[in-house]
Amino acid sequence: MAVNTQTWWQQGRVVETSDLAEGVRRVVLAPDRPVHAAPGTHVDLRLDLAGHVRKRSYSVVRSEDGGRRLTLGVQLAPSSRGGSRHMHGLAPGDVVEMTGPVQSFPLGVGADRYVLVAGGIGVTALVAMADALRRRGADYTLVLAGRRRAVMAYLGELVEVHGDRVRVFVDDEDVRLDVAELVGEIAGSPAAARTEMYMCGPIRLMDAIRRAWVSHELPEPNLRFETFGSSGAWAAEDFVVHLPQLDRSVRVGKDSSMLDALEDAGVDVMWDCRKGECGICQVKVLDVSGRIDHRDVFLSQQQKETYASLCLCVARAARGDSADADAAEPAAVTLHLP
Ligand code: FES
Repeated sequence: MAVNTQTWWQQGRVVETSDLAEGVRRVVLAPDRPVHAAPGTHVDLRLDLAGHVRKRSYSVVRSEDGGRRLTLGVQLAPSSRGGSRHMHGLAPGDVVEMTGPVQSFPLGVGADRYVLVAGGIGVTALVAMADALRRRGADYTLVLAGRRRAVMAYLGELVEVHGDRVRVFVDDEDVRLDVAELVGEIAGSPAAARTEMYMCGPIRLMDAIRRAWVSHELPEPNLRFETFGSSGAWAAEDFVVHLPQLDRSVRVGKDSSMLDALEDAGVDVMWDCRKGECGICQVKVLDVSGRIDHRDVFLSQQQKETYASLCLCVARAARGDSADADAAEPAAVTLHLP
């Protein structure tokens, strides 16, 4: 049975769209029942993707006029499951089904220092936080990391507004973010125990930050992150899920999630966030042919390494760099559903 805690759906009208950066589209929605979106909130949209209704989550970059205008920034994902392609095709006048603002990444109060770290499109979760911290007169640093300047949404605007509080790292300029150095700086500062870090970006960056944070014994509650489970260790590829208890096998296309594919096949599964955060969709792994690309932030590193379980909404099987990488057979995972 599906479980969903976000119960109030409404219609939102697209009132503006524009390009923010290469491959990144700005979409402004006017919801039927406006509610101001606090920093760290996102909205869920129900999108009709090739005849299947799918839920996708997007950070609210800006909330204006008491929530009458909610701005989203959407990157066209190379391995899009269809959601970002659909969002890029929206035009003023289109109507979408959406929730009100959902808070899963709240900005705390009272820390001595805040460090916001955005990897790529993760910046969309942090723009409103940076603005709020500036208004509060807080001590904050905004770290922006990307592959190329042309694909980094809001870069110019953030530098203009936040000045030298912004640190920019661009891979193709050979100015790369050194996570160990960044976290080491925090650990060595007098405010170390009272510094909060908010991070949104690819899973690999998030994992690296988490490892560095733990190794410096910084307070774990002070590290907060948001993810949409869309990036992994390997590119998405087709794979197969075996369910011996139902005597069934389901193929998962590279544009689909395991959860979507199982639902399409009529398999009842539990879920809530659908982005690798809550663990509700966690299931036991019985066998794997290839690798598991977990892509969640719920399981611990140790749980991930043992391949004992996975989160259906974001995890994928991949041939990866395993011995079977050149084999014609797709990767496969055998699961036991609760
Ligand atoms: S539904 Fe929340 S982790 Fe999968």
